Amino acid sequence: MDIKALVSRMTLEEKAGLLSGDDFWHTKAVERLGVPRAMVSDGPHGLRKQDETADHLGINDSIKAVCFPTACATAASFDTDMIREMGEAIGDSCQHERLSVVLGPAVNIKRSPLCGRNFEYFSEDPYLAGRMATEIIRGIQSRNAGTSIKHFAMNSQEHRRMSSSSDADERTIREIYFPAFEMAVKEARPWTVMCSYNKINGVYASENPWLLTDVLRKEWGFDGCVMSDWGAVSDRVAGVAAGLDLEMPASGGVNDRKIVEAVRAGKLDEKLVDQACERVLGFVYRYLENAKPETPWDREAQHAQAARIAAECMVLLKNEGDILPLDKADDIAFIGEFAKKPRFQGGGSSHINSFRITGALEAAEGLKVTYTPGYSVAKDDAPAEMIAEAVAAAKKAKVAVVFAGLPDSYESEGYDRSHMRMPDCQNRVIEAVAEANPNTVVVLHNGAPVEMPWIGRVKAVLEAYLAGQAVGEAAVRVLFGDVNPCGKLPETFPLKLEDNPSWLYYGGEGDVAEYREGVFVGYRYYDKKKMDVLFPFGHGLSYTTFEYSGLKLSADRIKDTDSLTVTATVKNTGSRAGKTVVQLYVGDVESTVLRPVRELKGFVKVDLQPGESREVSFILDKRSFAYWNREIHDWHVETGAFTVEVGASSRDLPLKAKVTVESTVELPRHYTQDSIFMDVMADPKAAPVMKEFMKKTMEIFGHEETEQDRKEAAKEAISEDMTLAMMRYMPLRGAMSFGGGADSSKTMEELLKKLNGEA
Ligand code: BGC
Repeated sequence: MDIKALVSRMTLEEKAGLLSGDDFWHTKAVERLGVPRAMVSDGPHGLRKQDETADHLGINDSIKAVCFPTACATAASFDTDMIREMGEAIGDSCQHERLSVVLGPAVNIKRSPLCGRNFEYFSEDPYLAGRMATEIIRGIQSRNAGTSIKHFAMNSQEHRRMSSSSDADERTIREIYFPAFEMAVKEARPWTVMCSYNKINGVYASENPWLLTDVLRKEWGFDGCVMSDWGAVSDRVAGVAAGLDLEMPASGGVNDRKIVEAVRAGKLDEKLVDQACERVLGFVYRYLENAKPETPWDREAQHAQAARIAAECMVLLKNEGDILPLDKADDIAFIGEFAKKPRFQGGGSSHINSFRITGALEAAEGLKVTYTPGYSVAKDDAPAEMIAEAVAAAKKAKVAVVFAGLPDSYESEGYDRSHMRMPDCQNRVIEAVAEANPNTVVVLHNGAPVEMPWIGRVKAVLEAYLAGQAVGEAAVRVLFGDVNPCGKLPETFPLKLEDNPSWLYYGGEGDVAEYREGVFVGYRYYDKKKMDVLFPFGHGLSYTTFEYSGLKLSADRIKDTDSLTVTATVKNTGSRAGKTVVQLYVGDVESTVLRPVRELKGFVKVDLQPGESREVSFILDKRSFAYWNREIHDWHVETGAFTVEVGASSRDLPLKAKVTVESTVELPRHYTQDSIFMDVMADPKAAPVMKEFMKKTMEIFGHEETEQDRKEAAKEAISEDMTLAMMRYMPLRGAMSFGGGADSSKTMEELLKKLNGEA
């Protein structure tokens, strides 16, 4: 389809109309020209296609579909191949259901455990979020269905989400909140991007030209369509000018008329309207021209796939005395309503009408498993009789497994949590069961960290996250050892909520949410502060053991334009086959800017038989070492030494090496008479100029300072070190007074020119 030609045949009214939805889920048709409607649908871990009664809050039913594990869970797999395959399955379902775009993935950063939508997001780490997003997009789009990476950007809270401004400095935005979008846009080329509800530094994302045009299109090369989150538009005309192509859902014609009026009044360039139309039709025709509605949608096969994926996502947090895996010959007590009716997804727009749900109890059929509910989710209560029953069951069993976690009402789209606790009734059941049977295991269903006051009294904890409709099958396979757990935490579990770096500021005051912790999100903060955590980022145990060795770097010194190859060997030293995730972190040893101790820059998931070892390799480039420099508004590597650490989690890094990276970029020098000595002397280009100047000044005025002079002066002061330390903060204008104050502004001007490399 020649889209440009098509748009050129449209009236202004038709064009303006095309820039908002026809209804909740469709773009508009232009019947006169034969342009059909196209349907989009949530996502992203399965389809929420609403055929009849539309709403975007997941209130009304959608068609029966397959609920795959949610993003919080799939991130824990650290398995890029697997999430791509999950994307392919979702793409097939889109084709079958005639959907042009699935609304996701959602890649906002898990800034605080409190965000109600954390279960829809991947990680506290932008690199991990970016890698997972890139692969699921590749998977879905390989089937010629589009994606809409969301919510662009800085939508890490639900509180006042449609009016609040997420305020942060440029470096924080670039290093933490943008990279997942940036990586996916550059590498996977999503068909569409969905802008977020919130403002960013005071400007709504839906009308933010810096966000939607300068960064997204001009810097990252995005050439698809930007759509609004549902109802995110405030000033539609400003939105078109800023680069928001499609308003969703319908605007009842109000905003279409405003676009027409603005063009007629000369306030909006019609070319921008044309361009937006081309982008909307771009994804509509891309889908239509490749539509394959005959693609089968085998829900049974996808259920089996969802079970396999879920098992790969589960994170074994603790396993004292190797209590897990359970022995199928033993009497086991399953306790907790979640064993029967698991919580496997969250509420809101991503909510899927699962065609089947398998709880652990059902999946354990045939095994020697008893069941007692322990607590009631609906009543948020555990009456004494229920606890007594659970205790009795636990006493009779070899091992008691409590299925616990957060009920739907505790975390959902639309509002945030106010604390990090699990329901009290569940905590009481766990305590009572652990008291009755020391062999107690807890399986958790939650989208974000919880406090675990009972952690010292239970033997094992398996974090299942919200693992999709087949969660029960996956949990049973892992608990009984049919699958060796291999998930790793995509976020830190702090000991208590107040430890989280955003604790003081999260939610903000009124409509201003300041992201004051800056780049110190998640482990970047806990590591810098050397804080104890409940479980660190990247942590996850296995039923086997792994050993890391042989770290090699391809060079010990590189330029920032070079790449560095890092290799290491991992060996399965236990007696079972198993998978692990080899993680690589980079840290700047000495830096003039405040930087995290380490940042994830690579990971590989490996599958090893007992005794088997494998060499894995990583390629690091400039971005692996760089920080965002706010002066040059670009990534920059400060020349110096960096650590490269490899191992099993952010706090278990047995392999460490150093590499020196040399910057090929010279930062601009802006010395003024108020610049201080310390900064000038630390600059290899400016220091010799300054030394020369000082020497000359002293000569002219006849008292070149000797070592003896300095010692004498130091004696009169308190110490030589102190004198030097005081000098460090002296502005250059002070230098003139060394020469008896007999300076002219000309001398200063000349000096500054030389220091700034202009003479
Ligand atoms: C959510 C989006 C979703 C959209 C459509 C919004 O409320 O924030 O993630 O895709 O609704 O349901």
